[in-house]
Amino acid sequence: MGPLTRAVAEYLEGDFSRFHTPGHKGKERFAPHFGWGELWRWDVTECAGLDSLFEASGPIRETERRYSRLYGTADSLISAGGSTLCIQAMLALALNPGDSLLAVRGVHVSAVHAMALLDLHPQWVLPSIDQTTGLAGAVSPEEVERALAGNPHLKAVYLTSPNYFGAISDIATLSSVCRSFGVPLLVDNAHGAHLAFLPQNLHPIALGADLCCDSLHKTLPVLTGGAMLHVGNKTYVSQARKKMALFGSTSPSYPVMLSIDAALSYLEKDIAADSVRVSAAVEEIATVARKQGCLLPRFPLRDPWRLTLSAAPLGLDGPGLAAHLRKHRIEPELVSDQFCVLMASPGNDEEDFRRLAEGLRSLPRGSGRFFQPAGFTLPRQKASLRKAVFAPSQTLPLEQAVGKVAGAMVSPCPPGMALVVPGEEIDRRTAALLKSYGIFSVPVLHW
Ligand SMILES: Cc1ncc(COP(=O)(O)O)c(C=O)c1O
Repeated sequence: MGPLTRAVAEYLEGDFSRFHTPGHKGKERFAPHFGWGELWRWDVTECAGLDSLFEASGPIRETERRYSRLYGTADSLISAGGSTLCIQAMLALALNPGDSLLAVRGVHVSAVHAMALLDLHPQWVLPSIDQTTGLAGAVSPEEVERALAGNPHLKAVYLTSPNYFGAISDIATLSSVCRSFGVPLLVDNAHGAHLAFLPQNLHPIALGADLCCDSLHKTLPVLTGGAMLHVGNKTYVSQARKKMALFGSTSPSYPVMLSIDAALSYLEKDIAADSVRVSAAVEEIATVARKQGCLLPRFPLRDPWRLTLSAAPLGLDGPGLAAHLRKHRIEPELVSDQFCVLMASPGNDEEDFRRLAEGLRSLPRGSGRFFQPAGFTLPRQKASLRKAVFAPSQTLPLEQAVGKVAGAMVSPCPPGMALVVPGEEIDRRTAALLKSYGIFSVPVLHW
């Protein structure tokens, strides 16, 4: 057994309830949808009759067409390289190198890197902040409208919704704002592939987005790496595959693509009832957590399958809460200084939710203070994103970094958005802010 195999085998032996990705949670219940078992045998390549992802015209194309019908898109393209590949393609489709766009600050690092690769110039707009937890929430359509009105050079709007903590932006209003300015709305919906299957369809394409990416693997029973680029605006259809091919491996994994294909019958027939069950179970757990004194964000619109919890008022920081949950054989998705994020999906059964409720009910009754983060203003930009990402950098203690230019993204949680992105100046105010978040060193350009 190799070292990685051994580590994963030990984790499996621990019998944890998985409140993290991937959405299949390693459960057997999805086996009937997968008419295939032993992975090795099914790991094939573009042989005769098996189609080829970047020239798809056979069975891969048929799978994509069924996804397109399911999500009501103009087209849907498979990615075996996660949403990361779809984000690269989405930005390359809607923008030309050198263009500027309006981007909501809570972006994932994959978007920052894609913007650097494509030499795009983001102008940032801040999301709202949840008053209870200090976490980044939705972006206000009015803010976006104001920014677009004052900056006619902006060629697109890019945002993440749902964000990692479950905040959903008002995509319907945002898409009509974008339409009125004649710019496309691009949505990182990596965490929201399931939104199309809620009783009220909250998927970005259904609400008017031009393009979006879904990490199918995060919330649906699909292998890690399985994602979809959804095209809402048909003007992008003809070039979409070419842009995916620009960044994707020429050897896309057949097991990943097969899992996307296998999930279809479940999504077409069975997910609706499961969706209601998962939302209800998460709501019940949220009620237990609140009763125990945990802090939960109060986003006006939120992902009903997601739980973001802080037990700081009970004297437990994020790692403390995670350690307590692990004693109850629960593994969260994300552990930060003050929070745990738990992702539920139809792969989680009654036993998983029972363990989680029991874990929360047995939280120790201590007392502690929740750290309310200070207000944040955008640092000055000193170099383009592209220049800063490609330049050599070194990590320096904060004191020595003052006056220098950031070489990487720094994104503590809260607020769960970048305090600094590559190319921005570490001035005294930003250094003090980073310090208040317990960050004492930062990568800066070395040029
Ligand atoms: C908000 C967001 N966008 C994009 C990505 C990249 O998705 P993938 O891992 O499917 O490439 C992630 C990954 O965690 C994410 O959290």
